Amino acid sequence: MSENDILQSLRNAALASIHEAKNSAQLDSIETQYLGRKGEITSQLRRIGSLPAEERKDFGQAVNDAKEAVDAAITARREALVSVEADAKFVDEAIDVTMPGRLWHTGRSHILVDTLQRIKEIFIGMGYEFVETPEIEDYKSNFEALNYPEEHPALDEQMSFYITDDTLLRTHTTAFQHQVMSNRKPPMRVATLGKCYRSDAVDATHSHTFHQVDCFTIDRGISMADLKGTIHQFAVEMFGREVNVRFRPDFFPFVEPGAEFSVTCIICGGDGCNVCKGSGFLELGGAGLIHPNILTAHGFDPEEYSGFAFGFGIERMPMLMYGIRDLRLFMENDMRFLRQL
Ligand code: PHE
Repeated sequence: MSENDILQSLRNAALASIHEAKNSAQLDSIETQYLGRKGEITSQLRRIGSLPAEERKDFGQAVNDAKEAVDAAITARREALVSVEADAKFVDEAIDVTMPGRLWHTGRSHILVDTLQRIKEIFIGMGYEFVETPEIEDYKSNFEALNYPEEHPALDEQMSFYITDDTLLRTHTTAFQHQVMSNRKPPMRVATLGKCYRSDAVDATHSHTFHQVDCFTIDRGISMADLKGTIHQFAVEMFGREVNVRFRPDFFPFVEPGAEFSVTCIICGGDGCNVCKGSGFLELGGAGLIHPNILTAHGFDPEEYSGFAFGFGIERMPMLMYGIRDLRLFMENDMRFLRQL
């Protein structure tokens, strides 16, 4: 093969592989292979010296032509590849605007906390002062100071978690009365709320741990009318204007007279449904006038002062409002449940 034929086939091979190059990295190595300092076409220039003088000029010219042609082909291919690569990148990184967005879950308060907060707001609005109270109480505060006689059957009803012979997890928030009455003088209007514990077998409607709110007032001239007015006002603010409150006699050792109170069923509006078992009312809690024995024991003359007290459970309210059938859901903190509320 003549020098020119060799050059020609190098040039063709270079142009063919440039044409087939799939990306700029391949082009770079083709460029080095042919046009680099030791490239196959570049090397041809070194052969000029061994040629007869009359051929040198033409061959030199031919090598330069080949270099320029290959160089131009590389430049053109590189430009073409830039847009091919940009297209590929574009496809790769494309955003599918029809994809559903990812939900961003922000934290928020637990449904029970919201309910407690609402109840608190309502009673604060009526002039009650909320006090922090311990969940561990002594026997005296939980039972004795509340006028429970020793061996009273009510003690069985409230099967308790004892910590020592004398201390227990409070079975009701009413246990706070003793501390407050021991440290204040009437008039007083005090409330508390928080966890209570009873040794109940756990099922959909019973829990060992639940929440209550308790309020009491001691002043001159307090009567059942004040008690009924207060609970009615609370019910109206909590459940709405149309709600009615029903009081029926009940017994608690710490009140006399004692009552249980119910509100119009918020599910059927009082017509009767399976939630209120056809009665049109839902039982909320217990209430009554503070027993004279308790007033006397704390140094308040029952001839001068009287008071009322009431308390109720919290879990029932969101259960009714949201149709939650299982009490355990409140304490399990399953996000699938909490996110629905
Ligand atoms: N402590 C009572 C209960 O747990 C409720 C109650 C409170 C009743 C205050 C009367 C007065 O059921």
